[in-house]
Amino acid sequence: MPIATDQQQIQQITTLAREFAREKIEPHAAEWDRTRHFPRDVIDEMGKLGFLGMCAPEEYDGMGLDALTYLMVLEEIAAADAAIAVSMGIHNAIPTTMLVKHGTPAQKERWLRPMARGEILAGFALSEADAGSDAASLRAQGVRDGKEWVLSGSKAWASNAGTADLMMIMVRTDTPDARRGAKGISTFIVPTDAKGYRPGKPEDKMGLRASNTAAIALEDLRLPADALLGDEGMGFVYAMEGLDAGRLGIGAQAVGIARRALEHSVKYCAERRQFGKAIQDFQAVQFKLADMATRVEAARAQAHRVAARKDAGEDVTTSASMVKLFASETAMWVTTQAIQLFGGYGYMRDFPVEKLFRDAKVTEIYEGTSEIQRIVIARGLRSGA
Ligand code: CAA
Repeated sequence: MPIATDQQQIQQITTLAREFAREKIEPHAAEWDRTRHFPRDVIDEMGKLGFLGMCAPEEYDGMGLDALTYLMVLEEIAAADAAIAVSMGIHNAIPTTMLVKHGTPAQKERWLRPMARGEILAGFALSEADAGSDAASLRAQGVRDGKEWVLSGSKAWASNAGTADLMMIMVRTDTPDARRGAKGISTFIVPTDAKGYRPGKPEDKMGLRASNTAAIALEDLRLPADALLGDEGMGFVYAMEGLDAGRLGIGAQAVGIARRALEHSVKYCAERRQFGKAIQDFQAVQFKLADMATRVEAARAQAHRVAARKDAGEDVTTSASMVKLFASETAMWVTTQAIQLFGGYGYMRDFPVEKLFRDAKVTEIYEGTSEIQRIVIARGLRSGA
């Protein structure tokens, strides 16, 4: 159970994150986006501040913070550059959750401690070229060879694939003559310097261009027995648990993107003059800004409420999907309005709202599309979750 953080502590950590984001991230975000530069030095600095161990327990050198504080910090980083937020978010949410819940003491010592200290960066590989939304249909294979495991196949669109030190990789461990569907998948802890781990070239993406996304070839990658996380055949369930935490984080990331687009819009509408007055004095503009602000506030409030319920130990699978669905669609809507308010300037790369618009789009796609979130929510309604 996470330590309940008091208001003063929340304030201090959020202020630290905002100042760091404004000084060390935002001034460089457009350049990193243009050049597709992944600033590992900045991630390492965030690690030193504890931002890579926010949700890891204190006994493993994490900050042991609650989900609510974590989301507030993530929003600040995302408001500066969503590409940095995604690297931080995946590391904190998915591999960390998996190790905390299912790692042995030795695995936690070996991997969780340096992750929490920010000494190593972790990622997660579930999707494959032919297994996106239907994640359980993945085909990469793990085979036992004596005491070792040998992994082969390929993964797709894995965040941090070429920049992480450690990847949590989901592969099948059932046999072709006895396929077990979702229960035939296991999770492996894979150091990225292992022989046979081959990340592809970074994908040329619409948004989040500074974050590293790549395919991975697993070429007879040999791992010791203790690279298996938890129980054989439970990897899909572990991935879904990780994604419950991850989807809340994507919600906060989307809120950060939307908030920044709103802030830029408010400032621009005060400065931009047309027909003899600032455009903020037109009621059509006022209504648009009011709607943008209302949706940002609603998305943030929903995310914080669900985070508080998670901290109280409730199952938030359905609610985390609602958070991701609403926040990501809010980010897309708000950034679209921002472009409209900026007019011709909004369509130019010289102004920040164009990047925010591109960055917003993927929040409706990764860690489960909006359609997948609706499926999870509808299933939750049926089961009363
Ligand atoms: N927590 C725990 N267990 C869960 C779970 C959860 N949230 N969701 C499902 N499970 C369990 C089920 O209970 C079931 O186990 P039992 O049979 O024992 O009950 C097992 O997992 C299989 O579940 P389903 O039958 O529901 O599986 P499904 O094949 O119907 O798939 C799905 C469900 C929700 C559609 C799932 O496939 C899904 O979420 N798809 C989207 C995948 C996704 O989000 N991919 C993102 C990849 S990461 C990424 O985006 C890149 C990045 O790095 C950012």
